[in-house]
Amino acid sequence: MACFFRRSVAQQLSRACGLSEELLIPLVSAVPVSKKQCAADLRVSVNHLLQSGAAIVDDDDGGDLQTRTQVLAAQMKRDAVVEEVIAGRGVIHFRLNKLTLAQKLLEHLHSDPDGFGVKSDLLRPLQGGRTLVEFSSPNIAKKFHAGHLRSTIIGNFISNLKQALGKEVIRVNYLGDWGMQFGLLGAGFERSGSQEQLRTRPLEHLFEVYVEVNREAERDESVRSAAAEFFRRLERSEDQALELWSRIRQITVDQYKHIYQRLGVDFDHYSGESCHHGQTQRVLDELRTRGLLKTTEKGTGVVDLSGAGDMSSYATLVRSDGTSLYLTRDVAAALDRKQRFGFDEMIYVTDKSQTNHFLQLFHILRAMGHQWAERCVHVTFGLVQGMSTRRGEVVFLEDVLEEVRNRMLDNMRQSSTSKVLEEPEQTAERIGISALIIQDFKGPLMSDYKFDWDKVLQAHGDTGVFLQYTHARLCSLLRTHVSETHSCPDVSSLVDSRSVLLLRHLLRYDEVLLQSVNELQPRHLVTFLMALSHLVASALRDLPVKGSPAAVAQARLSLFSAARSVLASGMRILGITPVESMEAWTFIPRPAPKQTPDRGCVYMLHVHRFTRDITS
Ligand code: ARG
Repeated sequence: MACFFRRSVAQQLSRACGLSEELLIPLVSAVPVSKKQCAADLRVSVNHLLQSGAAIVDDDDGGDLQTRTQVLAAQMKRDAVVEEVIAGRGVIHFRLNKLTLAQKLLEHLHSDPDGFGVKSDLLRPLQGGRTLVEFSSPNIAKKFHAGHLRSTIIGNFISNLKQALGKEVIRVNYLGDWGMQFGLLGAGFERSGSQEQLRTRPLEHLFEVYVEVNREAERDESVRSAAAEFFRRLERSEDQALELWSRIRQITVDQYKHIYQRLGVDFDHYSGESCHHGQTQRVLDELRTRGLLKTTEKGTGVVDLSGAGDMSSYATLVRSDGTSLYLTRDVAAALDRKQRFGFDEMIYVTDKSQTNHFLQLFHILRAMGHQWAERCVHVTFGLVQGMSTRRGEVVFLEDVLEEVRNRMLDNMRQSSTSKVLEEPEQTAERIGISALIIQDFKGPLMSDYKFDWDKVLQAHGDTGVFLQYTHARLCSLLRTHVSETHSCPDVSSLVDSRSVLLLRHLLRYDEVLLQSVNELQPRHLVTFLMALSHLVASALRDLPVKGSPAAVAQARLSLFSAARSVLASGMRILGITPVESMEAWTFIPRPAPKQTPDRGCVYMLHVHRFTRDITS
């Protein structure tokens, strides 16, 4: 219902310039609160109106942009919603009635806290349809590197966002579970594998076997041929080989499920390259029938891409020995998914090193006549350097989680002098994971960055710890005053500048979601939630609940409860589970550094005796 205001302005504009409300709603935007001195709450660009075909003045009046802006502004009426209309430079600013702002926003937030923002009129056109998001996709027996971690959290964010905005989302994990590496792993396991270790420490054991057999294969021809033989047995679906392979795969999937759960990530399907190797022959036949697949002198099968820009001219789809490749299996997988899931759009999330691969894939699909390939998207991201744990270079996802949890627990032990949280390990892990996610989502996804644990987990500055802390503080306040909360309080006290800034900021939530989904970039939402947390910190400082008259206390509680639900909603979309208690910690406000004058305060994690009610 942030759109209540936008719609109300759009109605007036519609009467004045003849465009439909639906067309006008996206053109009305909320003014960011960081723009100091700006008294307006909403604005519309007159150029945008004209571009959309608005008839602003009669031809006789003609006039330049400024004249039109003034003429249109003069046609706007003041009413219970719009208090003032200001003609700026090519922009019309609207000041909203502050009481109506508080009343409508809080009313909506209390009646439908989960729908606030996400069900806005602005986002309605995006609702419906089915989106398949493929992400994480590690390789069995190989390293789970930082790129897989990034794919996991980015894919999860995209899925959460699309789902929140009303799409049906299918989450697919496409495992690297086929190919020559399985010949090696199978042969290696037959030589040195242990059933016992496969049960007790499966991922580590498989990785050791794989590393070892690779080393041996480098110098021993017989190991190489044993591997080739094992893979042939697999491709021929020979029982014994297949039985070992499927046990290894099952155990790996079970392990991953458990670890993903700790990360708060879930998949609808564990697919993988193995699910499609049997379909590659059909793909190749079709490509041949369409005249797209050519056989080279070396005997490989290639598709000519020269007509489609430079994708290295040729894509190889068949090796000279007739076996298929990564790309062949991806073509088969895309066709199979389209048939099985009937998706409207498909999103692949991998690092930028696979850009060419996906360009080739989409081109081949289009060349085969599949128009839906236009709605396949590759979301790429940059590389993370230097992510290591106390055990050394990251090999297993679990190591990252252990590291996060232990480092966070260390911080907590150092800071907390008395009270221990009920579930310190789980809280530490949740806060640590949020810190990891925020660090990753702060900048454009395409940027590479250097990983630094201390920077990730620091409590001051715009970190995940700060978001969690803000959420926990709000929960603590609301818990303490639960008996005083009122479902429809008198909001007349919420017209002071702190309250108004907070309310105005909440008004922007739907726009931020729209920008995030249009660009498939989380940083807009991160920036919004950080600003929200800073505004909450100032409001908690300046708008006490304890000791205020009952009506004021109720109104403030209602405002804090609204801020909490938007904060939690945004955090969940990012893939962060908000914690409700961090009471063993507190943050000491520090004067803000000069370069960020309107940021309020910077917070420092600090040793503090446990106090039950730190927020009121
Ligand atoms: N398993 C691959 C890797 O680790 C990523 C798979 C990406 N998805 C795909 N459909 N090709 O590099």
